[in-house]
Amino acid sequence: MEKLTTNPFYFGRAVREVSFTDRETETQRLMSNFKNGINTILLSPRRWGKSSLVYKAGSKATSSSLKVAFFDAFAIRSEEEFYSSYTKAVLAVTSSKLEERLRILKQFMQKIAPKITIGVGNESEFSLGFDWKEARKNADEILNLPNKIAEATGIRIVVCIDEFQNIACFEDSLAFQKLLRSVWQKHEHACYCLYGSKFHMMQELFERQSMPFYRFGDLMHLDKIAEKKWSKFIKERFTTTGKSINNALVSRIISVADKHSYYVQQLSHLIWERTKRTATEPIFDSALGDMIHQNALLYQRDTENMSATQLNFLKAVAAGHSQKLSSAKLMQEYGLGTSANVTKVKKHLLNDEIIDIKNKEVSFIDPVYALWFRQNILKWT
Ligand SMILES: Nc1ncnc2c1ncn2[C@@H]1O[C@H](COP(=O)(O)OP(=O)(O)OP(=O)(O)O)[C@@H](O)[C@H]1O
Ligand SMILES: [Mg+2]
Repeated sequence: MEKLTTNPFYFGRAVREVSFTDRETETQRLMSNFKNGINTILLSPRRWGKSSLVYKAGSKATSSSLKVAFFDAFAIRSEEEFYSSYTKAVLAVTSSKLEERLRILKQFMQKIAPKITIGVGNESEFSLGFDWKEARKNADEILNLPNKIAEATGIRIVVCIDEFQNIACFEDSLAFQKLLRSVWQKHEHACYCLYGSKFHMMQELFERQSMPFYRFGDLMHLDKIAEKKWSKFIKERFTTTGKSINNALVSRIISVADKHSYYVQQLSHLIWERTKRTATEPIFDSALGDMIHQNALLYQRDTENMSATQLNFLKAVAAGHSQKLSSAKLMQEYGLGTSANVTKVKKHLLNDEIIDIKNKEVSFIDPVYALWFRQNILKWT
């Protein structure tokens, strides 16, 4: 049996291998899209497991006839930066040798001469930039790179772009989106997997009929990992590290975290850390307190910027009113103003990804934020 001494629960970065559970059908669907050259858009609220899933499917799909390029648009603010990250990511899967990468770049990029700076000491580190005027004029040559390389080598290329919604903040973003779409949709040897953590912005980009990326590919809405899978995972992770936890506590973890991937791992991590042999109720309570405390700064920041009516609206939801928030009684009781106000507040909180509305029922998106809100805001009013 595998014996681990370090904490077997991870959170805050993409998880792999034994830390990764479930997602079999989603992994299969992504792999099949990668192999068949079908573009994918992956949507879910924050920290449910998009990045982990794409890494998993990408590494499983990689073979001698298929390569998967990754890049994160997290820090990318302009079209120009996008082009250099894109080019670097694509080159990275063509060869591990810098010399070879540069040769390939020259072979396939004829109209533009990128500026290359090679890192000192580390040969594989290099930066790549374009003359902006040149790049803009020949953007299609840059964007066509994966398809051209794939066509010439017979090795398919999948380009996975994390935090893709950032392109919506570029100057003249709509024109850029049109350009991307028109070039990418002609690619027969390369395909694209686009995902990002701003659920609402991603929906705007891909689910609006008027937007260039509408119906770009297979739109996958990621679900939460099922309770049964979590339960098996948590117990196994405890046992393989020489500790134990009973079913009741496992259920409590899953229920408090509302099956939210990040929080299930974080709470399990904190319980494991405090457990010598067997997890107990007091350990659970102390771990939960710590989890709320560790996230409190973030929650405070989210809350500070809210208007009084937004706060009042959330108080009503936190107190258990998930429906009829624009009824005269609730509007009066919670100081929500008019029903037009309520509509505005809802829209705002939806945009900010604080609440979700399904079948007219309002709920907090983040289960631990809801807990914190009840303990720190609702309690004092
Ligand atoms: N398949 C999985 N099995 C176990 N834990 C997972 C899984 N997927 C995600 N997690 C947990 O959730 C956390 C967040 O995962 P990940 O970063 O993949 O999500 P994300 O949706 O890309 O997040 P973000 O919205 O912040 O980009 C991980 O650090 C891990 O703790
Ligand atoms: Mg992510």
